[in-house]
Amino acid sequence: MVETIRYDLVICGSGLAGLRAAISAAQKSPRISIAVVSKVQVMRSHSVSAEGGTAAAIAQDEGDSVESHVYDTVKGSDFLADQDVAERLCSEMPAQIGQLDKWGMPWSRRKDGRIDQRAFGGYSYPRATYASDKVGFYEMQTLYDTCQGFDGIEYLNEWFATSIIHDGQRFHGLTAIEIATGTFHVLRAKALIIATGGAGRLYSFSTYAHSSTPDGLDMAYRAGMALKDMEFVQFHPTGIMPSGILITEGARGEGGHLLNSRGERFMKRYAPSKMELAPRDIVSRSMITEINEGRGFKHETGVDCMRLDLRHVGDDMIREKLGGIREISIKFSGADPAEDVLDVRPVCHYMMGGIHTDIDGATELAGVWAAGEAACNSTHGSNRLGANSTSECMVWGRITGELAAEYIERGGGDGGAPFPHHLVAHEEKRIYDGIFRGGGGANPYEVRQELTDTMNEKAYVYRDGPGLAEGLRRVRQLKKRAWKHVDDRAKEYNTNFCNVMEIDSMLRAAEVILVGAINRKESRGSHARTDHPKRDDAGFLHHTLAYYDPAEPILKEHPVTITRYQPVERRY
Ligand code: FUM
Repeated sequence: MVETIRYDLVICGSGLAGLRAAISAAQKSPRISIAVVSKVQVMRSHSVSAEGGTAAAIAQDEGDSVESHVYDTVKGSDFLADQDVAERLCSEMPAQIGQLDKWGMPWSRRKDGRIDQRAFGGYSYPRATYASDKVGFYEMQTLYDTCQGFDGIEYLNEWFATSIIHDGQRFHGLTAIEIATGTFHVLRAKALIIATGGAGRLYSFSTYAHSSTPDGLDMAYRAGMALKDMEFVQFHPTGIMPSGILITEGARGEGGHLLNSRGERFMKRYAPSKMELAPRDIVSRSMITEINEGRGFKHETGVDCMRLDLRHVGDDMIREKLGGIREISIKFSGADPAEDVLDVRPVCHYMMGGIHTDIDGATELAGVWAAGEAACNSTHGSNRLGANSTSECMVWGRITGELAAEYIERGGGDGGAPFPHHLVAHEEKRIYDGIFRGGGGANPYEVRQELTDTMNEKAYVYRDGPGLAEGLRRVRQLKKRAWKHVDDRAKEYNTNFCNVMEIDSMLRAAEVILVGAINRKESRGSHARTDHPKRDDAGFLHHTLAYYDPAEPILKEHPVTITRYQPVERRY
């Protein structure tokens, strides 16, 4: 007999979006019971590693404006952002910064006490609020502390959610494995918010925590919801060699320079007005172009890279504003940024794609919302600007939490429809017969490595049709290999089981990225096709929706909302 637990609201994911949603739902409706379900412990969510900033036009009395934030976001997106959604993000953000401040966020401040802001890529105003270079860590602390004030919020830490139970119309519940005991549970609830973050561990060179796999996206995909714009993967210019750990854009915001092997600040050739603070897609492409044209460096591992120079910023300033990346550079690369240049290379950092939602974060299934990086509400289009991600978590955490609570208060839920027990039985069979008791000779960890290396190689900063097709062929071959088995028979803390389940979702998500990228025969934002180097608004100014089919993803087009800004060529 499967153990069933009941809540009003389940929030899957305990990062910034998940915690912000929990607070918002609890404030809206103090009576409802809320479970925050997470594969990791709350403060180990990948959000804690956000470094450089949270964007908001808070200095409107000094020349910034919401309108400018909107335009920068839309231009940065290469005009694929839904402009009404970008307007929602930018107009709500100043209040969110104030709210975090009230809840105790230790913002870095100016001498006069006002919250300080630093420059970030693609903005026409220094708009990133920050707390040294540990923004995500402090924001998570602030939200987690605030959550403690609400009795209705409960944490199911280290629970691996596996599937969404629904009747085709409405949400009924979630299946999940309690990792500590190995027990399979059903969480019956009236509403669900998916806030499971991005899936950047699909790439072997990645800034993401190892837990950032597409389990949440895949649950929604298998349940019939579309994944949107998955071909757009962001490569942050400065992943430190050899680990790929993030060196914040704030390092360039505080004055850092990117250098080629001739000692030139090469960004003058690609974005003369913004230089190192051009949007990430442009800086990453410029770096790879320099490397391809012979002006890069060879790291001792043999991998090509470029250099980030912070020496002129000075030790005092580095310690005060960039203490986190100073520690990372010293510990993981043996380089002190006050004395040494840093070897860096574009690294997988964010997915613009995710679960298709509307402007309110509502998915296609009644009772299910998505927020944060797991969602694609289309605020970032084909390229997100730095510091707009933590902002997105705050805004749609608030919105979805409130809407889900209202839905529950209004009597939303299964509407009296019978609970689809057969789907629970189907899910047990899928994961226990299909994976846990599976068999085969292929090593799942080798399959995972080959998969993530393939994504690095074939769906990186520059792509082309033949390379993407080869990547897809390899992924499909890996799918067919006999890797679905778990050698560790333990019930308790069976991380081998969790890892193999992650691979299952990774293979499906990788296929969606590659199929979407093959289909999009243009270059836009982060998707740069060398065989189709121009943006093609006539053919491709639309979002890509991918629906699950066991044979292959079914692609559909979805219109882009343009309110005020007609697409023009991006120049910086
Ligand atoms: O560079 C950074 O600190 C990253 C920020 C972001 O992705 O928003």
